[in-house]
Amino acid sequence: AKLALGRRNLIFIGLMGAGKSAIGRLTAQALGIPFVDSDHEIERVSRMTVSELFAAYGEEEFRALEARVLKRLLRSGPRVVSTGGGAYINERSRRQIKKGGLTVWLNADLDVLWERVNKRDTRPLLKTENPKQTLENLMRARYPIYAEADLVVLSRDVKKETMVEEVLA
Ligand code: S3P
Repeated sequence: AKLALGRRNLIFIGLMGAGKSAIGRLTAQALGIPFVDSDHEIERVSRMTVSELFAAYGEEEFRALEARVLKRLLRSGPRVVSTGGGAYINERSRRQIKKGGLTVWLNADLDVLWERVNKRDTRPLLKTENPKQTLENLMRARYPIYAEADLVVLSRDVKKETMVEEVLA
């Protein structure tokens, strides 16, 4: 799988809670190449959390910063890059991502996503009256776009190693 990648990156896309960071990190280990999480990189360079960035500057500014960070991260491969759930939905970032390597969409159903995100309160987009409904709306709006990915892997409640094997296969 590493040879097949060449100098291209392997880029995980999908909704919050799909497992992009966890599966991405393990996949990078298995391939013996670096792993980087775009949200972490954004937080590192801005010295603010994603929530703080949304609150202080709004989503549009966040998307502009995200696109700049992705462009830089994807320039030198091969790496495994996990992206924030909205990155592939943003036109600028999507262009960078498509140019930057192979994309893997971790596709999960609503209950799997909800189970994973509702325990943590770090997602500014889910600070709504009815976060589960919001998540469902995001699925409906975004899944047709994520579906452009090179590879689609169903993210479900199995061992992470099983998911990594599916990606590598
Ligand atoms: C977002 C997902 C988050 C983060 C931000 C916006 C989105 O990343 O980038 O809160 O638009 O779906 P995760 O997918 O890593 O939670």
